[in-house]
Amino acid sequence: MNNRTFTIIKPDAVAAGKTGRILDMMIGGGFTLRAMRMTRMSREDAEKFYAIHRDRPFFGELVDFMTSGPVVVAVLEKEDAVKSLRELAGNTDPAKAAEGTIRRLYGTNVGCNAVHASDSDENAVVESGQFFGEEMK
Ligand code: PPS
Repeated sequence: MNNRTFTIIKPDAVAAGKTGRILDMMIGGGFTLRAMRMTRMSREDAEKFYAIHRDRPFFGELVDFMTSGPVVVAVLEKEDAVKSLRELAGNTDPAKAAEGTIRRLYGTNVGCNAVHASDSDENAVVESGQFFGEEMK
C-alpha cells in the first residue's frame, strides 16, 4: 500500500480564494504536505496529465479549464493516501458528493470541481513525477 498521493487545487478553487481552506481540510484530515507549489499549467502540461481522457468528448474543455488560471499542485502523505484523499475530495460531480467533502463544499460541476485526486498508487507516482520529478525520488 502506497502512502502518497497527488492533488491539484484546480483553477476554479484557486480563483475563488479557497486554497487555504482546502489545504486546511487536507492537513486536518491527517495528510502531511511533502511537496507543494503554485503554477500555471501549459496546454502541453494539461494534455499530458489528462492523456488518458484524450478521446473523451470533454477533453478540449478540460484542457481549456485547467490552463485558465493558476493551480496548486501538491504531494500528500498519509496511510492509504489515494483512497483517503478520494474520500475527502468526494464524487467527481459535486452534486453527488457527500456532505462535508471538498467538492461538495467548493465544486460547481463535473469539470469545475475544485480538486484532482490521483485514482491509483501508480498514477500518483506518475502524476507527482510530472510536477516534482527528481524531488520525489
Ligand atoms: S473519474 O474520477 O476519472 O472517474 O472521473 P471522470 O468522470 O472520468 O472524469 C475525469 C476527469 O475529467 C473531468 N471531467 C470533465 N471536465 C470537463 N467537462 C466535463 N464534462 C467533464 N467530465 C469530467 C473530471 O473533473 C475529472 O478530472 P480529475 O482532475 O481527474 O478529477
